[in-house]
Formats: sequence, structure tokens, C-alpha cells
Amino acid sequence: MSAKLKSGHVAVPLEKEELSQLEVLMRSCSEGVVRLDPGRWLLHTPSLNLVDNIYEHKYRPSDLIIMAYPKCGTTWAQEIVWTMRNNPDLDHPEANDQVIFRSPFLEADTYTLSRHHPPFEEDHPVPQAFRKAFPQREDTKNMFFSLAEGSPDPRSMKTHLSLSLFPEDLLETCKVLYVARNPLDVCISFFHHCRHFIVRDFRGTLDQFVDLFIQDKLIPGPYLQHLKEAWAKKDHKNFHFVFYEDLKEDPLTELKKLDGFLETGLSEDKIKKIIDYTSFSAMKSRDTETLVPTRQEVAKETGGFFRKGESGDWKVLLTPEQERKIMMWMESGLKGMNLKFKHMRRE
Ligand code: A3P
Repeated sequence: MSAKLKSGHVAVPLEKEELSQLEVLMRSCSEGVVRLDPGRWLLHTPSLNLVDNIYEHKYRPSDLIIMAYPKCGTTWAQEIVWTMRNNPDLDHPEANDQVIFRSPFLEADTYTLSRHHPPFEEDHPVPQAFRKAFPQREDTKNMFFSLAEGSPDPRSMKTHLSLSLFPEDLLETCKVLYVARNPLDVCISFFHHCRHFIVRDFRGTLDQFVDLFIQDKLIPGPYLQHLKEAWAKKDHKNFHFVFYEDLKEDPLTELKKLDGFLETGLSEDKIKKIIDYTSFSAMKSRDTETLVPTRQEVAKETGGFFRKGESGDWKVLLTPEQERKIMMWMESGLKGMNLKFKHMRRE
């Protein structure tokens, strides 16, 4: 049965046949998936209520939302932003806490609500943080979202949901940083991630994954539509659009722009130190255990969450046929938009 969300979207459950095809490859979809109209966003059925909460949440003027499709470098952007806003001298006592506690992930519960994710043990850091923040609460349903709600200002929060799932006046209320990445690299990075994280549990081949990616069958849905909604807002004063490839190539220029957008007023010297502190190798060396279960054999093979952190890595893995399919999908999906990515050619 379809349901209407607070955002006005209609959530329609995937038909049995489509769901079973998806479920065979992506085991985490076993409790149902809905497709939203308009936008064709995909969500786990148990997370509809959470998406309503995110839509109805009262965002604050000091909030900064870091928005990106999965694997576009969201965690990197979170660390850069949190450091620029909260730790410019690199001496904050909580800097080594898991980034998700300092810079909350709004819809993280969507991946832990289902039976596919074993309930957190009481001594796990997430319930512990929740109990500390809300000692009286009995309902532990959306712990990550509650922690986001209760975070002190200024909040730098992450989401993979697209702009249209947020209130219409979001950009009149707070700022949004959007990170986009070359779709060929997103596809490869997402493939490894879905094998690595049991909350995704992908068991198919790269060929099958490429098809799911270009058929928009991966939660949270169509990457190109995500990009389109963001690109349409790129000139809004409260919206800052950045490319992963530019952050890699010229972090100083990009962080100076970000400093202006965030109004952090940092000196070039401080920005340079933050660039070193948030480099791929520095973040990988500080990496601690993930909060959700992962497959260790995949981490050993690929490098784990901080896998390669490069632009153009797709050239190593994608076959010319897979590359051709993604390019065709991109060209038709982004037609008429002046949105260009670097590292799209093999030479
Ligand atoms: P790869 O799998 O290509 O290595 P997200 O945080 O949105 O899930 O994105 C994860 C991707 O960003 C991974 O890409 C990861 O290695 C990369 N990444 C994380 N931290 C980074 C950093 N400091 N510099 C560059 N890339 C980084």
C-alpha cells in the first residue's frame, strides 16, 4: 500500500518481482523498499517515519548540512567542515571521537533499523551516547537522529538524502554544502562499500552493480537526479557546490572558498594545517572501528572505508563496456546541463 510523506512524496512499495530481484543481490533490502514519487528516491520501508522526522525537523540558522550522494567524499567534507568550524587550532579534546558523534549523520538509522542489522549491544558506543544524552527516554528507535537533534550548536550534519526531501525553506534557514563526484568513481567506490558494509550486503558482481547503479536501484536512488537538484541551487547564497576532484587537485583554493562560505575567517596558515590534518593518509591513520558491522575480508582486499581516495580509480576496474554504459546513462541524464566532471577519460 502506498503512503504519503510529509514532504508530499508518495511512497510506493516495489513490486514483488522487482524487490526479489534486488534482494538477491542486496540482502539488506529484505524488509521492503519504497520508491518515492516524484524523484524516484528509494528508501528502506522501515525508515519512512524517520524521513518524515527529517523533513519536519526545525533546522537552525547556525546549521550546516553536508549533502552528498554516497561515496562522494561526505566523510572527508564532514571532517574538513567540523575542523574548520570547531577545531581550527587542532587542539579540540573531542577531535578523536568518531566523526558521526561530532558531525551527525541525519538518516543513519535507516541502515540500522532493519532486522538485517543486529540490535546494538548496550555497551556499544551508539546506545551509550544515546543514554548519556537522553537518560529518561525509553524509546530507542531513531538513536542517531535523536543524537543529531540534541547536538549542540553549531551543528554540521551529514545527509545522503536529496534536497527535495528537506523543507522547501531549508536554504532560507541554514547553509548547505554539496559534494559531487565523478559518477564512474562513485560507482566503483559504492560497489566496494556495498560489499564491505553488512548494512548493505551486496553479493553480486561488478557488472550487476553497474546495472543497479544506472537503473537507479540503489538506496537512496538516482544519483543524476540528486545532482540535478543540487546544480539548480548552485548560485544560491546559502548553497555551496564543490567537486571531489577539485578538493583533491587544489585543496587550498577550495578550502579558502569554503572559509568564505562558512564565515570561519581562517588564515592561510591554519587552512594549510587543516588540509594536512584532513588528507586521505591522515584520516586513514586516525580511522577507528566502524560503528556498524563490516566484512573484514573485503576490508583486507580493498583497504576498508578509506580505500584509495583517488580520482580516476575507475580506470583500473571498469571494463570498456561498463564504462560505455555509465557514460551513455550520464550523457542522457545530464543533457542540457553544463555540469562537467574531471577524469572522465582513460588517457
Ligand atoms: P574511495 O572508495 O574511492 O577510496 P563517503 O564518505 O561519501 O562514503 O565517501 C567515501 C570515499 O571518499 C572513499 O572513496 C574514501 O576513500 C574517500 N575519502 C575519505 N576521506 C578522504 C580524504 N581525506 N581524501 C580523499 N578521499 C577521501
